[in-house]
Amino acid sequence: MIYLDNAATSFPKPGGMLRVMEECIVDYCGNPGRSGHRMSMRTGEEIYKARKEIGKLFQIADCSRIVFTSNATEALNLGIKGVLVSGDHVITTAMEHNSVLRPLTSLEESGIETTIVRCAGDGTMNIERLKEEIRENTKLIVCTHASNVTGTIMPIKKIGETAKQKNILFMVDAAQSAGCLHIDVNEMKIDLLALPGHKGLLGPMGTGMLYVKEDVRIKPLKQGGTGTSSKELIQPSEFPEGFEAGTVNAPGIIGLGFSAKHVQKLGVENIRAYEDELIAILDGALRNMNGVTVYGPWDCRKKTGIVSFNLRKRGCEEVCDILNSEYGIAARGGYHCAALTHKTIGTYDTGAVRFSVGPANTRREMNLAVEAIYQIQKRVH
Ligand code: ALA
Repeated sequence: MIYLDNAATSFPKPGGMLRVMEECIVDYCGNPGRSGHRMSMRTGEEIYKARKEIGKLFQIADCSRIVFTSNATEALNLGIKGVLVSGDHVITTAMEHNSVLRPLTSLEESGIETTIVRCAGDGTMNIERLKEEIRENTKLIVCTHASNVTGTIMPIKKIGETAKQKNILFMVDAAQSAGCLHIDVNEMKIDLLALPGHKGLLGPMGTGMLYVKEDVRIKPLKQGGTGTSSKELIQPSEFPEGFEAGTVNAPGIIGLGFSAKHVQKLGVENIRAYEDELIAILDGALRNMNGVTVYGPWDCRKKTGIVSFNLRKRGCEEVCDILNSEYGIAARGGYHCAALTHKTIGTYDTGAVRFSVGPANTRREMNLAVEAIYQIQKRVH
């Protein structure tokens, strides 16, 4: 199969990742932080190494501030619900995924108000618009680093500077950028960074993390066993265990540590440059094809490895079905859990087909995908 659904989850995973996960499960997988025996200790040590490895990618100096979660959605829920209280105001954008918009909507009944900043038709945001929405009680700005529908890259560094000047917490949803774009939590003034392990970091599903800056106070999302202060009925507040109640996904986290190291070896800058090249082939060809409309920025440097489009004569889901069954191409069609993004780019009634690339894709695969779309478009019904 030609896999062009990397924005949903990356495939293939790095060679060797399965070996370290299997080694964990078969050789030593005790419950970390719970017992003093060799197996429990070894698992704890391997998880610590993974935490450090992942921290390096984002210039996180204190890796204990990384809380492992089961995915980016859980990380976003933890960050959003952990810092907001009744009377707070939040600013976000129309390019967010439901994993930001739904938690924020659910908080309305708790007296937390959200302003959604409108974006241009290609998904780009004018930061002046965001600045105009800042109020006395604005506690948090939450913004995606890159749209999961169009790939549009948001001005994270500028937003971080604004938030810092105004003493507002800044949370970044790096679901589409971690492992694909440069992220430095210090340089970008990020207080909370939420991301999945299974997308650009090439790790296993069921992994994700939230980084919480040293001076940010946050409530846990869940209470339970931490392996510490067992006689206390109140949830411990120490990082990371106070926020990782219950047994963690040790094999998954250890696999993620391996894949994060692999990404580091490849180099995020190199991955970015290569994906840029691949996307330029797709984007350029599809924009020039009769009957095809491509969404998002024209300049591929303003987006991640995503090309979303529609054919005039066929619905997006039908196109994906044909790609799958006749051409062996994996793509995602529909609304991508991001209704406001589709409103913004003008596809609220149609959805769109999305191709999303990863470091394992080839230039030849891009040409084959272009050829497939050309043939589907020119067919008579
Ligand atoms: N959020 C993922 C996507 O965009 C699953 O496909």
